Amino acid sequence: MRILLTGASGQLGHAVRRVFSRHEVVARAHTALDVADVSGVEAALDETRPDLLLNAAAYTAVDRAEDEPEAAYRANREGPRALAVATARRGIPLLHVSTDYVFDGEKGTPYVESDATHPLGVYGTSKLAGEDEVRRANSRHFIVRTAWLYGPVGRNFALTLAAVAAREPKLRVVDDQWGSPTYAPHLAAALERLVESEAWGTHHLVNAGVTSRCEFARALLRALGSATPLEPIPTSAWPTRARRPRNTALASERDTGIALRDWREGVRDFAAAFSGGTVLPV
Ligand SMILES: NC(=O)c1ccc[n+]([C@@H]2O[C@H](COP(=O)([O-])OP(=O)(O)OC[C@H]3O[C@@H](n4cnc5c(N)ncnc54)[C@H](OP(=O)(O)O)[C@@H]3O)[C@@H](O)[C@H]2O)c1
Repeated sequence: MRILLTGASGQLGHAVRRVFSRHEVVARAHTALDVADVSGVEAALDETRPDLLLNAAAYTAVDRAEDEPEAAYRANREGPRALAVATARRGIPLLHVSTDYVFDGEKGTPYVESDATHPLGVYGTSKLAGEDEVRRANSRHFIVRTAWLYGPVGRNFALTLAAVAAREPKLRVVDDQWGSPTYAPHLAAALERLVESEAWGTHHLVNAGVTSRCEFARALLRALGSATPLEPIPTSAWPTRARRPRNTALASERDTGIALRDWREGVRDFAAAFSGGTVLPV
């Protein structure tokens, strides 16, 4: 297949370019294609004639979104709408990536695909609106919800933690937020298998297992060989502009046979790929 990849310079876009090996990936970074630009999207599809479009583009600044909802909705709702309409018109399937933040985190057990959504902030609400646009416009869609994404390239919790641990004597990390840390290259490998199927609809794809932010941080530091001590703190001691859901562990009720390995294996692979504290630009 020829796959048109949007948002190609983000951390997931980067992983897709590195990991996909069985298909031709035609990459379009934000600078080359704005997914909310309808005529730009149409032109890119006509020029590249892909068999599938994979949308890794998104506005992902969870706190900033509270102050600039127009920008969040532009990338997260208008973008997916433009992509879904244009691909449907050409008979092309669309894989769109979404987030655990469509849930409020109050369920108490892992969320499956059919659970009711209830986002807490602008980011999650705009991402849910994007899902709805995709469902409405293109029946041959995959909507993949993932969570706590990190990898050796980009802006993410793991790279920030590594950088801060290298310069601070002690770290404070919240211990009452739970979720499914997901290593971007593992997700990319699962996406390559998914696009080879016709399992249309919504999928939860995360590394297996559940952990807290603090436990995740502890595992990362251990794998990176850092001795910087960690102090677990409650969310109330780390106020943020956007409210974070308490527990968004994800599980799947789909029977595709596509499952990611345990989150600790993601941490191990991250440590092996880590390039010594350099936060690489995306
Ligand atoms: N990061 C997480 O923890 C996480 C968790 C769950 C789900 N997800 C989802 O996973 C997907 C990939 O996220 P990521 O972590 O790879 O995000 P990322 O590193 O922020 O990458 C997103 C990319 O999209 C680009 N972009 C923004 N607006 C665009 C537009 N209008 N048109 C084209 N490109 C645009 C960004 O470019 P600029 O930098 O120039 O804006 C950036 O290169 C997203 O759908 C996200 O919602 C992420």
